[in-house]
Amino acid sequence: MNPDTPLPHLGGLTATEFLRDYWQKKPLLVRNAFPELAYRLSPEDLMELAQEDSVEARIVQEKGKTPWELQLGPFTEKVFKKLPKSHWTLLVQAVDHYLPELADYLEHFSFVPNWRIDDIMVSFATEGGSVGPHYDQYDVFLLQGIGQRRWQLGQFCDENTPRIEGTRLRIIKDMDVTFDEIVNPGDLLYVPPGMAHNGVAQNECMTYSIGFRAPALAHLLDRVADGVLEACGSRGLVTDPQREPALHPGALTDADLDRLRTQLLGLLEDRDALRAALAPFLSEAKYDDYEPEGQEATPEEITAALAAGALLRRDPASRCLYTVRDGLPDQLYVNGQLIGFPAHLAVLVQKLADQRCLTAEDLAPWQEDAEALHWLHEQVTEGHWFVELMDDNTP
Ligand code: SIN
Ligand code: CO
Repeated sequence: MNPDTPLPHLGGLTATEFLRDYWQKKPLLVRNAFPELAYRLSPEDLMELAQEDSVEARIVQEKGKTPWELQLGPFTEKVFKKLPKSHWTLLVQAVDHYLPELADYLEHFSFVPNWRIDDIMVSFATEGGSVGPHYDQYDVFLLQGIGQRRWQLGQFCDENTPRIEGTRLRIIKDMDVTFDEIVNPGDLLYVPPGMAHNGVAQNECMTYSIGFRAPALAHLLDRVADGVLEACGSRGLVTDPQREPALHPGALTDADLDRLRTQLLGLLEDRDALRAALAPFLSEAKYDDYEPEGQEATPEEITAALAAGALLRRDPASRCLYTVRDGLPDQLYVNGQLIGFPAHLAVLVQKLADQRCLTAEDLAPWQEDAEALHWLHEQVTEGHWFVELMDDNTP
């Protein structure tokens, strides 16, 4: 992808411009960014998904048993039947994991790497439905599906921002509204982390939230510490050859703290150690109990299916990244696991990890490569990639 190509779904901004001027800084509204996606799912599709055991779903009722009542799924049909006519929202997390064609939309945001992407949450709201004025800690693109929603945006908030009590939701007390617009199907609204927002359904409406994640620095430090422990155990000790005489032996002095900080930072300066500790962590799947199912197909069946027009897709519920050496993949991680590959397949691995979906044409350079086919077959069996059948081709 050329980062300097104007992107229609960002209102003609290039990825470079968007990241420089808006990302984590200010909101952006793009009218009619994805007109065709707006009708991708119906409320019934979403309600069906919310009945599955493995699916993370919530219902928020503004005027429930308590203000902003939160119910956790999975739900039954009976639960939906009992809901009032208005003022409730159903929210379903990670819908992209179940619909690879929906996951394809993430490709439009591939100027942000895989490891920063969280999921696509889809909501269905009845008239007046909203999850209340709140802020999220993460970047989000809110794409309007069916219906209309009024979005109000406000100030940047943090944990000190006053919240209303008596609800499990983190609803903020006051919002200084600086933006007030009604969005239509296909419109896209980017909201930076921490910005107060409130979206109220004007009629039955659906919203697709393309959400990013930002791992907590404390969790990264934890992994680095684990890595250091594993690499040198208790051998890496504090040193102090320049020690000055202690005037107050009971004190832990700033000079000592500075010395400890320098030595600790020294551990973080080691990029190889950092990469080894963080690459598996950052490739962990959204749901830590997730195990791909895998597809049973022989290498010949995979080749035949691709030749007949099937697509090779990355499993949308798996997270995948590679470390880089000389511009090419060095180590590949999927769902926290190191996946070995023959060195000559680095370009293939790069394609597979960069793109969500490959055609036979993309794979043509390796069609005569038995090792490549064998490796791909292994990945398909493991479920990291799968062959998506179109029409009635095999397997
Ligand atoms: C919604 O889809 O109803 C809410 C999305 C959000 O505010 O983050
Ligand atoms: Co939000």
